[in-house]
Amino acid sequence: MKTLISNISSLVTVNSKGKNLKSGSEMQDIGEIKDAAILFDEKIIWLGTMSEWLKQAYQYDTKINANGKTVMPGFVDSHTHIVFAGDRSDEFAARLRGATYQDIAQSGGGIKKSVRETRNASIEQLVANAKKIALSALNHGTTTIEIKSGYGLSLESELKMLNTIDALSREIPLKIVTTFMGAHDFPSEYAGNHDAYVDLICDYMLPQVASAGLAEFCDAFVDKGYYTLEQGQKIFRRALDNGLKLKCHCDELADVGAASMAAKMGAISADHLLFVSEDGIADMKKSGTIASLLPGTAYFIRMPYARARTIIESGVPVCLATDCNPGSCMTENMQMIMSLAAINMNMTAEECISAATLNGAAALCRSESTGSLEIGKSADIILADIPGFEHLLYHFAVNHIESVWIDGSKVK
Ligand code: NIG
Ligand code: FE
Repeated sequence: MKTLISNISSLVTVNSKGKNLKSGSEMQDIGEIKDAAILFDEKIIWLGTMSEWLKQAYQYDTKINANGKTVMPGFVDSHTHIVFAGDRSDEFAARLRGATYQDIAQSGGGIKKSVRETRNASIEQLVANAKKIALSALNHGTTTIEIKSGYGLSLESELKMLNTIDALSREIPLKIVTTFMGAHDFPSEYAGNHDAYVDLICDYMLPQVASAGLAEFCDAFVDKGYYTLEQGQKIFRRALDNGLKLKCHCDELADVGAASMAAKMGAISADHLLFVSEDGIADMKKSGTIASLLPGTAYFIRMPYARARTIIESGVPVCLATDCNPGSCMTENMQMIMSLAAINMNMTAEECISAATLNGAAALCRSESTGSLEIGKSADIILADIPGFEHLLYHFAVNHIESVWIDGSKVK
């Protein structure tokens, strides 16, 4: 079915100019067309100004008059942990009373609490919980979402989480990319012997995950109090041997050199980066690793924000994602993330949009098919009830998304 959206006041294409990734000043160029139209079936067939449209001979089945509204690519949320059981509202309340994220983790809460609850949950419960969050993300404009395992931390429970993501992908229209994150924390059973758990990941989990085709990426939390550089490297080497691509939770709690290590191992993205060093940034630039910034986490656990300006001006491409998880960032709303990035990381509205669309898709190796509105790409499109893209950030903390299409099908 061919859909035409006409009289669009602001059509934000995020035109990639054949590069499928934007860095430095390119992030400022979002290819806006004013007074525009777009025609699509599963793929984008045509786009341009209204006066150009009137000279076309294209037919359509449905027409939407977007008078005074904005159209842009659906958001790509390239970093989430939305499969979990229970919640951590009690810890959140304790943090409001003065406890820190690390205090809570050290007293047996934190990720370990979500692990206990996730291990006890059935796939059906986990699918139902994740579905609610994913559909809410869709309602807020997300069309592609990455989801990580990492609240199982045993062979059986990690496979259960990955099977949950697989089942979820058959129940909802969102495009899902799956990441294995057995190295999210150390399970309590291995408290005295972390290296034995690393061996379990390398020798049992990774081969099984890969042979079952249950994940495309492997991620690890390389940070103070979590995985060491050596443990991270060992897991990543084995992940590459098993055909998985790499992402890394880097330098979120302290600078441990994780971004440099991830870059040198060829990671597609290095994520968090609150304390990344100059060397880390330089190594990412050399390897073409994308900086995945997650300002919702800095906000929610009251940490300093990542140095987005320095990173962008160094020429490292930046993407924005929610990090949606029960402990350090309980939101699935990409519009909120863009607002935090603009106000607290000094990113421009244009940079926020490039980061939340095309660069997010690049962080998932999906930017050839989604993340920008260009002829031949998937019709993953959002219609926002705002007269121009700046209003997405200007009028904050409300949901501007009126309609969403994924592969040309209207899903909101
Ligand atoms: O990305 N940094 C590690 N993992 C998550 C937190 C997960 C949790 O607290 O449950 C994060 O912030
Ligand atoms: Fe995370």
